[in-house]
Amino acid sequence: MDLKQRINTERLPCHVAIIMDGNGRWAEQQGKERIFGHESGVESVRDTVKAAAEIGISYLTLFAFSTENWCRPQKEVDTLMGLLTKAIDNETLDLHKNNVRLQAIGDIDSLPFSCSKQLREAIELTSGNTGLTVNVALSYSARWEITKAARKIARKVAEKRIDPEDVDQELMNEAMETARLPDPDLLIRTSGELRISNFLLWQLAYTELYFTPVLWPDFRKKHFYQAIIDYQRRERRFGKVECHADEVKQA
Ligand code: IPE
Ligand code: IPE
Ligand code: MG
Repeated sequence: MDLKQRINTERLPCHVAIIMDGNGRWAEQQGKERIFGHESGVESVRDTVKAAAEIGISYLTLFAFSTENWCRPQKEVDTLMGLLTKAIDNETLDLHKNNVRLQAIGDIDSLPFSCSKQLREAIELTSGNTGLTVNVALSYSARWEITKAARKIARKVAEKRIDPEDVDQELMNEAMETARLPDPDLLIRTSGELRISNFLLWQLAYTELYFTPVLWPDFRKKHFYQAIIDYQRRERRFGKVECHADEVKQA
């Protein structure tokens, strides 16, 4: 049976997050420069977005560039930013036609102006779409986000708009970049690395983790579907004895 037919559409993860890793190693394996891997990874993004939209996933968060990635050689950073700007330019109309809503998390102001401008325009254009939400994490890291949230809340306390006792999980959630998103149900990391690399540390508390050795430029629809099938075999307990996600949400 084809992989897609094995997916139970009644039990889809609402939010899937992906650490798209392994571009450099993929290129090196072919004796090419790392940037060739980044270029090839754009096709994997395209295929994954299509895969997610086809089965009815609501939110897809893609880790594209971390705060720490700024410390890579300048040439790699510049080429990555150029690629990103080009990809937004090339893909936005197609995304819009397919009812996809684009959003972003991270320090967008730190991106080169041409890139942040394109991104903001694409977000604005697609803001009314009601299909899949694709959320790109750019110049993002979880510690940056949590520190920023702490600063925002501290300011409210200092201005006496709230008491320290008012600081609860809901307020923390609202102060995060992901305020409008549900927590991820499934996290996929490609390239065989078994780590989180400063991604969504607050939001991943009860997320199911899925690691695959596939390098990002080789990642296609079938790999995405395999991850969903694996997820659907698991029992999520949220610290309780036997329980389902919908019951937790109501609790
Ligand atoms: C992921 O691939 C893309 C970014 C982090 C921008 P890498 O560039 O990290 O590739 P590897 O992990 O070195 O193979
Ligand atoms: C994580 O990959 C960041 C992105 C995929 C954007 P890295 O390649 O930067 O992470 P490490 O260095 O392997 O932890
Ligand atoms: Mg990497």
